[in-house]
Amino acid sequence: MQILVTGGLGFIGSHTVVELIEKGYEPVIIDNLSNSNIEVLQRIKNIVGEVNIPFEQIDLKDKNAVRDFFKKYTEIKGVIHFAASKAVGESVQNPLMYYDNNLTSLIYILQNISSKKNIKFIFSSSCTVYGQAEKMPITEDAPRQKATSPYGNTKIIAEDIINETTMVTDLQAILLRYFNPVGAHPSGEIGELPLGVPQNLIPFITQTAVGIRKELSVFGNDYPTSDGTCIRDYIHVMDLAEAHVVALERLINENSSQKVEIFNVGTGKGTSVLEIIQTFEKITGQKLNYKYAPRREGDTTIAYADTTKVNETLGWKATRTLEEALSSAWNWQENQKQHTI
Ligand code: WQD
Repeated sequence: MQILVTGGLGFIGSHTVVELIEKGYEPVIIDNLSNSNIEVLQRIKNIVGEVNIPFEQIDLKDKNAVRDFFKKYTEIKGVIHFAASKAVGESVQNPLMYYDNNLTSLIYILQNISSKKNIKFIFSSSCTVYGQAEKMPITEDAPRQKATSPYGNTKIIAEDIINETTMVTDLQAILLRYFNPVGAHPSGEIGELPLGVPQNLIPFITQTAVGIRKELSVFGNDYPTSDGTCIRDYIHVMDLAEAHVVALERLINENSSQKVEIFNVGTGKGTSVLEIIQTFEKITGQKLNYKYAPRREGDTTIAYADTTKVNETLGWKATRTLEEALSSAWNWQENQKQHTI
């Protein structure tokens, strides 16, 4: 069964392509290579074997190209839509680019599939839509809050676009609200490839440990948490990839009568920045050079998922530990020395 994976050469997309192939699906990848590398396609094959993975270098903001894609690939039964820009700081600098990249592409895809009952849709949303939630853990019915960045706002608007489209078309969709995806495939073939200076914690840590960065700044140690640093729900990208396939199967097997369902995808466990550093040092034997720095604007104090709904409805649960996630991220970082990307 053919499944379109947009952004299929990106961080979460590439792991999901591997998972789809291992579950017997035939992923077709669209990627414009704006924040990914064509070599990832070969890396995926290094993991799954020399299977044919159709790849189309298409910019989803090209309306005609999207239309032509669906004319060419008439057997697509599901779309997992990852393709988007995701740097919070960049989105503040260039809001129009973010609204254009993240929403125009979504609209063109929906225009092509919303009248086709047999094409199901999975969307990458984010826990960022909750802002600083009042209650922990966060359930799916916690109110969404005004985003602190255009990036976050694109996720809120995208959810609304999908929701409203399902009300008046045949579209059936699942929105997955990711918490903090980390780690890499255990093979070290694929992982996160941040462009330039990483904004996210784990790539910054691994790049510091390997000597690319001088020291890690811990943004704030005066938060109202046990050790003063922020708490997040770090989920292994392999677990997250599995969640996509399980969600897709729910729609394909018609196990849901709802037009839209929303699931938090996290571990349910909160970990502080200091705990991340300590765990990383323990499992790698590396001493990490870090200092305390002022709070980062826009950061929330604490966010971790209530996973009851996703556990019970999808029968999916994160199974990998934080130690596994960090050691796979480290393995991936070390592998970069031997590769060109
Ligand atoms: C985690 C913690 C930082 C870097 C962001 C997006 C979210 C989602 C995932 C994705 C925070 C601290 C970080 C550093 C630090 N989007 N930190 N020093 O901000 O929870 O979520 O990425 O595509 O929408 O907002 O993740 O990894 O940036 O930060 O102390 O150099 O690490 O303050 O507490 P965040 P993160």
